[in-house]
Amino acid sequence: MASSSRKRVLIGCTGSVATIKLPQLVEMLRQNNLEVRVVVTERAKHFLKDAQLPPEIQVLSDTVEWAAWQDRGDPVLHIDLVKWADVFVIAPLDANTLGKIASGICDNIVTCVARAWDPAKPFLFCPAMNTKMWEHPITMPQVSLLKSWGYKEVHCITKMLMCGDAGIGAMAEVDTIVRSVLRALNPWMDQSDLCP
Ligand SMILES: Cc1cc2nc3c(=O)[nH]c(=O)nc-3n(C[C@H](O)[C@H](O)[C@H](O)COP(=O)(O)O)c2cc1C
Repeated sequence: MASSSRKRVLIGCTGSVATIKLPQLVEMLRQNNLEVRVVVTERAKHFLKDAQLPPEIQVLSDTVEWAAWQDRGDPVLHIDLVKWADVFVIAPLDANTLGKIASGICDNIVTCVARAWDPAKPFLFCPAMNTKMWEHPITMPQVSLLKSWGYKEVHCITKMLMCGDAGIGAMAEVDTIVRSVLRALNPWMDQSDLCP
């Protein structure tokens, strides 16, 4: 993988409607001089069918990961990505992948990156789910477990959800996520000049 002096952000997307915000998130991270790569679950792909992403942004999925390894010596993509990235941000993190990460399950490229993540580097997660899912008693213990490992929660917000219900559970706004990424990379940085 080519090297650059810019900080590198690995975005993970899961099967929440909020994955449609990926182009906006990518654009704003790049405007802030960050290099971006994206890993997605199979369900996340569904929300990216019409996504307009810059041509150099690869959307890496299980299909790409498994095609890349054919023989000994070939790259193991999720491990290379863990080495490549300075920060991992899962935006959105759906209920299913939250549960998987909390239990150590790693059955796709997003959860394999999470399981292989270097604890010395920041890991951010941005939950996004229906209010009923958010309020299920399993959610808070799982969120707390991830936080106990040093992962940073970018809190979900209350608004009209895509399913038509109003309540808590929507993914944080994109600019909040970008600020959190910048803060994680540069804890002492003055963020008043965030772009745009
Ligand atoms: C249209 C649609 C929207 C969905 N939105 C969400 C969501 O915002 N949050 C969530 O936790 N699950 C949502 N789901 C359910 C997940 O897609 C489902 O649990 C899926 O298995 C997640 O797979 P993944 O975690 O591997 O991406 C949605 C499902 C559908 C069909």
